[in-house]
Amino acid sequence: MSLSLVKLSKTILITGCNEGIGFQTALALARQNHRIIMADKNDLTESKNKVIEDSCNDNIVTKCVDFTSLSSIRNFAQEVKEEERLDVLINNVGVFCLGKERTDDGLQATMQVNHFGPFLLTHLLAEKLAKSAPSRVLFVSSLGAFFHRLTIDSINSLDVSYFDGLSSLLIYYNSKLCNIITANGFAKKLKKLGVAVNSLHPGMTATTFLWKNQSLVNPFKFFIQEPAMGAQNSVFLSTSKHVDGVSGKFFVDMKEHQQPRITTDEKFCDDIWSCSEYFVALKEEERLTSRGYK
Ligand SMILES: NC(=O)c1ccc[n+]([C@@H]2O[C@H](COP(=O)([O-])OP(=O)(O)OC[C@H]3O[C@@H](n4cnc5c(N)ncnc54)[C@H](OP(=O)(O)O)[C@@H]3O)[C@@H](O)[C@H]2O)c1
Repeated sequence: MSLSLVKLSKTILITGCNEGIGFQTALALARQNHRIIMADKNDLTESKNKVIEDSCNDNIVTKCVDFTSLSSIRNFAQEVKEEERLDVLINNVGVFCLGKERTDDGLQATMQVNHFGPFLLTHLLAEKLAKSAPSRVLFVSSLGAFFHRLTIDSINSLDVSYFDGLSSLLIYYNSKLCNIITANGFAKKLKKLGVAVNSLHPGMTATTFLWKNQSLVNPFKFFIQEPAMGAQNSVFLSTSKHVDGVSGKFFVDMKEHQQPRITTDEKFCDDIWSCSEYFVALKEEERLTSRGYK
């Protein structure tokens, strides 16, 4: 491999990449010759082989992590810290409407996979990212965040509406708003360390995630794109020079987009942050403040 390729190659971690947008993101970034850490709860052998075959890049590693378990996330972060460097973290993992389930950690399941888990993982990897600066973190959110009903009291509730189906949908939207708030929070706290943090909407994409919820999708079926298109925004924000140093922004179609108005309410966002620290049982040494990141 030529020296210039070695220099340009980044180490990029993508969560939830056995299929869907995460898999396509891994594939596209592997084609750009980066080292890809593919992480998922299920066996990734087949997906890894497909990426290697298609991209002709064998610098691909796989790791197991289950976002419904905080201890699995902590063990996983420990493994990632053994990597030489970490240039980009893509918090892609997401589930839709896990309903009235609680995890063994006592957290609402959709909220844990979509928000509490990535919130914890980013804390645990902040130091690694800072040491690899300039580095980047992405939170794959959704325009659905604009339809949130998030309150401090409801962040870990099983019921946020009288109707079960609507409750599940609103919890999903709430989790996606939390992604934007979390990205903005990390952006402020990590800016001086050279870690840029942004959130994004991938566009409505034909993945398992969407097809499991066919009735919601039918009215929009003409606007739904292929998974490879759904990966474009993540790929752009991970490696493009056009967004060097850009942080704390929300992107749609590779352009900055306005955020839900509630994200300007500092007290609300600080309270969401503190609640999240509480629900993931963040240890003193894991807090950014105790590590001097303010
Ligand atoms: N698709 C859309 O239209 C759309 C729109 C807006 C936002 N998004 C966001 O885009 C992101 C990716 O969505 P997608 O459509 O690509 O979803 P997807 O096709 O369902 O893929 C989700 C991936 O996450 C993995 N996963 C699920 N639960 C996990 C857990 N507990 N621990 C670890 N990995 C887990 C799945 O693994 P297995 O396959 O091994 O089960 C799968 O590889 C999500 O954050 C979603 O909210 C999607």
